[in-house]
Formats: sequence, C-alpha cells, structure tokens
Amino acid sequence: MRMTARLIVALALAAGFVVAGSTYLQMRADRSRLLDDLRRRCAILAESIDTAIDPALSQRDRGRIEQFVERFGSSGGLDGLAIANNRGEALAATPGIGEKPIVSELGREAMLGDKPVARMIDLQGRQRYAYAVALHSDDGVVTGSLVVLQDTGYIQQRMRDVWRHNFFRLLIQVFLISLVTLWIVRWNVLAPMAQMAEWMKRLRAGELMEPSTLPRAELFGPMAKEVKTFARHLTVAKSAAEEEARLRQISESLWTPERLKDHVKTKLGGQPLVVVSNREPYMHRFKGREVEVIMPAGGVVTAMDPLMKACGGTWIAHGAGDADWEFVDQKNRVKVPPDDPQYTLRRVALTGEEEDGYYYGFSNEGLWPLCHVAHVRPDFRPDDWAFYQAANRKFADAVLDEIEGLESPCVLAQDYHFALLPRMIKEKRPDARVALFWHIPWPNPESFGICPWQTELLYGMLGADLVGFHTQYYCNNFLETVDRTLECRIDRERFSVIKEEHLTAVKPFPVSVHFAASPQGFSAAPADKPALLKELHSNAGILGIGVDRVDYTKGILERFRAVERLLDKYPAYRGRFTLVQIGAPSRTHIKRYNDFLAETEAEADRINWRFKASSWRPIVLLNRHHNHREILPYYKAADVCLVTSLSDGMNLVCKEFISARDDEEGALVLSRFAGASRELTDALIVNPYDIDQVAEAIRYAIEMPEEERRARMKRLRETVKENNIYRWAGNLITELTQIRFDAKTASAPPESPEV
Ligand code: G6P
Repeated sequence: MRMTARLIVALALAAGFVVAGSTYLQMRADRSRLLDDLRRRCAILAESIDTAIDPALSQRDRGRIEQFVERFGSSGGLDGLAIANNRGEALAATPGIGEKPIVSELGREAMLGDKPVARMIDLQGRQRYAYAVALHSDDGVVTGSLVVLQDTGYIQQRMRDVWRHNFFRLLIQVFLISLVTLWIVRWNVLAPMAQMAEWMKRLRAGELMEPSTLPRAELFGPMAKEVKTFARHLTVAKSAAEEEARLRQISESLWTPERLKDHVKTKLGGQPLVVVSNREPYMHRFKGREVEVIMPAGGVVTAMDPLMKACGGTWIAHGAGDADWEFVDQKNRVKVPPDDPQYTLRRVALTGEEEDGYYYGFSNEGLWPLCHVAHVRPDFRPDDWAFYQAANRKFADAVLDEIEGLESPCVLAQDYHFALLPRMIKEKRPDARVALFWHIPWPNPESFGICPWQTELLYGMLGADLVGFHTQYYCNNFLETVDRTLECRIDRERFSVIKEEHLTAVKPFPVSVHFAASPQGFSAAPADKPALLKELHSNAGILGIGVDRVDYTKGILERFRAVERLLDKYPAYRGRFTLVQIGAPSRTHIKRYNDFLAETEAEADRINWRFKASSWRPIVLLNRHHNHREILPYYKAADVCLVTSLSDGMNLVCKEFISARDDEEGALVLSRFAGASRELTDALIVNPYDIDQVAEAIRYAIEMPEEERRARMKRLRETVKENNIYRWAGNLITELTQIRFDAKTASAPPESPEV
C-alpha cells in the first residue's frame, strides 16, 4: 500500500507541475492579449478626444475643457481623464487624479517623446492602466497632454478565474490518476503477485500445483516461466531426495540423476563429459516466420538427453535444423534445453553433399540395413564411403577441439555413424578415454562380411577403449566378426580385443530411459481415453498404441496386419478396438523410406476400408512428429502397446510406455527381435512375422485377467526403474575409467591401419 501511495503522490506531483506550468503560460498569453486590447481602445479614445478638444485648447477655453472632461470622464469604461497644457499644468481632470504627480509625469513624458506612453500604475490602492498622449493643434504643434485611466480589475479577476478553473481541473485529474493507478497496481501487479506467492506457498507445502494457475499477464509472463522451471527443479530435487531417503531405508541402491552426477564427478575428476552423435537433441526449425524447437524422435536422443541434463558437459552433433545457425555462438555452441539450459550443444555443419554421402548414403543405406536383419539390401557406394570417412574426420576434429587442454578427457561416441572416429581421436589424444556405443544390432559375421570396408570399420572401432552394445548376443557377434576379420587377440574371458597392444573391452550395456514416479514436468493426471479417441473420430472402447519412426525395421505393416487378423478372427472387436499408430516420418530422402511411408498409409487405408464404419476406424495413423508431451496421454490411456520390430537394437518405446504407467495398468506386446525382449520378459513376446501370433497376443493382452496384467506391469516397472538410463551411464563410465587405469595400454595406436 505504501508503494501505491508513493506512486500516486509522484503522479499527482507530476500532474501538478504540468498544470501549474500550462496555467502560467495560459495566463501570460491571456494577460498580454487583454492589455493589447486595452491599449487599442485607449488609443482610439485618445484620438477622438484629441480631435474634439482641439478648438477649446487652442482658445485656452478652460471652462469648455472642464465641461468636456466632466462629460467624457463619466462615460462608461473610463476610470479617469486628465488634460494638461503644453507646460504640463493640469487644466482639467476627473476628481481625485488631477493633482497626482504620476499623472502629470506621464503627460509630460508623452509630450517630450511625442508618442503614447502606457503603464500600469497603482492609484488609490488600485491597479490601473494609464495611457498618455500628446495633443496637437491642426498644424501639428503640441498643445498639451491627455492621460486616460482604465480600470484593470476585470483582468485580475480573469487571472484568478484561470487559476481557480485549473486548480479544480487538477483535482479531478489527480483523483482519476489515483483511481487508475490503484486499479492497475491492484489487478496487474498485486493480484498476480499474490497469486504467485500463494502458488509457491502451496508448492512449498508439498501440494502438486498445475502451472496453468500461474498468472499469464504480459508483465509476469517471463517471471512465471522462470518460476515454473524453478518449481520443476524443486519437485525433481524433492522427489529425488525422498527417493534417496526411501532407498537408504530399504538399503537398495537405485541410480538417480544426482547419484550419476556424483559418480561422474568422482570418476572424471570434475572434467566435462563429451558426447558425440549424429543426431542433435534439440533442433531449431523455421515454422513460417516463427522458430520452433523440437526434440527429434529416436533412441539416441531419448537416452542421452536425461543423462546430459544430469551430468552437464558438451554434446557434439550435426546441426540439421534449418534455423540452427541462428542460435549458436562463434564456436557453434548453444546452451540447451533452450528454456532451461543444463548442458552445451556444439553443432557441426555438414554440406548437403556430405549429408547425402555420409548420413543418408553410407550410414543409412549401407550400415543400417546391414546391421538390421529386415531383408532390405544394403547399398555400398565408394563415394558414400569417402564422405563417411571425411565426416568422421570432421566430427573428430570438433571433439579434439573440445577436449583440448583437458587431461585424460572422457569421450562417449554414439552409434554406427562414427565407427572410424574412436581411432581418429586416439591417434591424436592417446590419453583420452574413448567409448563407442553401438545403438543398433550387430549381425553375425557372415552378414557383416558383405561390407566392402568391414576391416576399416572394425579397425576404427577398435581405436576405442570400450565398445558397448545393448546385449551380450550383439557383443558375441562383434567379437566373432573381429576374430574372423582382423589379426588380433581375443580375450573371451574378459570380453576384450587386444590389437597392436591396445585393449578394447566389449561389453553389454542395455540402454534405457529416465524413469520417474511421475514423468518430469508433465501432468500426472490419468489420461482420458474416450476423449482421445473421440478427437480421432473413432468410437472404440479399447485402445492400442504404436509409436515409431516410420522405418521398415519397425514391423509397422506386420502390426497393421495383426490388427486386421484380430478383427477377422474375433469380429466382436470390430467397433471396439482401435490402434493409434504415431509415426514420425524419418530419413524420407531415402527412396526406401519414402516408399515405406506411402506403404504404411496405403495399408492403413486398405484395412480401414475393409472394416468401414461411420464412427470407428481400426487404425488411426498419425504420420507426423509428436513430442513427448503429446505422446504421453496415449501411453497412459492405452490398453496395449505394440512394439513389433523386425530387428531393433533395444527399442525405447516399450520402456517409455512402462515408465508412463504409474497406474500399473496396460499390457505390452513385444517383438523377440528387439533387444528389450531380453530384459522385459513379462511382456507378451511375439515373432512379428507370425501375424496370427501377434493377433492372439493382442487379444490376450486385452482379455488377460486384471490381476495378471497388473502383476506383469508391476514387474516390468521394477525392471525399468532399476535398469534406468542413469545406471546405464554409470556402468559405462565406471567400465571406461577402470579400463584406462587397469589396462596399462595407454600407448597411441599406430598412425596408419595395419589391417
Ligand atoms: C536409431 C539410431 C539413432 C538415431 C535414431 C533416429 O535409434 O540408432 O542413432 O538417432 O535411430 O534416426 P535419425 O536418422 O533420425 O537420427
């Protein structure tokens, strides 16, 4: 209230100054206009008196002069009149003024200069306007003087009126200003502040508050945003602390972001973690004239972002967004997440040609189909291979620049895009600890053997101190492939390869997701299944969900056909079951992907057409990028989640689904060809090529006794909770740092490959 009073007083003073200033100026202008007017009137009067009195003055007829003065002096408006001869002696005057020295002085002054003299004089305690002129005979000789007095009381009255009017106007203004100020302060400042304070108070008291209750006023928008972020951190920290306390009590040891942070700090001695992947975690894209930030779909981003948020450090990746370069500094760095910066993203620029050859060509038309057994023929083109080598060099240079000056830095390279990078780093920085994690499957040696550059790829990978895969099965395939391709020693007991005195450990690390009791920053409210389906114009009571990049390895067509089979075999599900397939278009520059996108649409259309009904569709295909916040309601509402990959390194969709089901409801149908099937044994494991089996699994998932469904989900949740992304990173870093200290093989590998 004191602040409001101060504000009002300040505004009233300012208004007072403005009104006083403008009143003063107005008065000056009015006064001078009125005096001009008076002077003009006096001049006219004097001129007419001069003409009329001339004969009497020339004849020195005093009697006529006195008569004249008497008549004129009492006429309206005049306050006095005096006539003197050319020696300045009063001849006649209205009563009370003839003997006044100031009057005769004015007359003399007018005769002396032979020009009118005007002045304000104080006479008998009143202000008057005196106007004196010299009188002339017909031949122009000065015969005397005339002084005319006018009353100026009306001018003073006018000035007082101006002051009075403006004073009342000021009062009204101050009143209105105070009202408006009170209103603005109350509704736009005090009320939102009170709302925010109340929100924070309740938050502190542990009540879960929807951020939508925060003020949205323009003034408080930025602050509300910061408060929300702060609250999110607080909630996460609080639940982490509670979780830690709980774990301490039951002496269990769960990996949390805080624990990983401490672990990484201890293991790396405070040095920043450096991650390199092709795909960036945050992409700036133009959307019309606006810029949007998206998190690309895909396992690497899902897994690595929570880890980087926990540990900080630098993530080096290809800047593939069309607005990416608007947001980086001179070193191509940007702090991310953009609305709550926690680590650094360093973007690497690639030309269109480089991207075509290295990413679309060698990585995704060569290595991807080579490693995934999905019966798509890999294409190996020498030009693509050259670009793959050059791009690995470019990223390696960015890593080297980033780790310059760091002692024994720790570099985590991600995936099949960077088979050559580990050796490139180690050649320049033998002291660096380099791990390469392969996020996709590793096939058997016969399959891998068709790659014309398999030796170079393996040699590049073995530059790393640690090569990680999702499962032991992929590790075994890799060791087998190395054994058959390169001259080296394989230590099968320690699962490592020794090549040119350099030891590379090969170990499984099943990647995972962030697992939280309630997904971070998102609403914990249960999803509204009928509303979701109604929005999609499908009136079904049972919801199936599939979430994938539109990729031929994901078994999307097989999934659709299994739904068709279910409806054929069990017509009772017609009108009752809908599969919502969220598909993020992916790598669409590659013909096979583009064709596949069209195939999924055609297949969904075909099946929907077969079972045509006015208010129900068996398959709802949403082929566009969806963010986590958009996907979450589907995960929460689904009766069954379908993961039917034909080949998949791990698959994190199933783990995200499990993590979202804090109600311990919902069932999972999972392909045996996804790495996750080794861990998630409580899912309904299927062979996606066996359409009938998948259809039966969907039916069983729906009809399963509630008790069994809950028991399965509970165990699945325990598994994902325990083996979360923080454990994955913790194990990887422990292993990597131990190898460096145990192996005593820090010597640099030779410059050129002896393969
Ligand atoms: C797979 C790969 C990842 C990749 C993701 C998305 O999960 O293992 O490295 O990031 O697919 O693919 P994209 O080509 O869009 O990065």
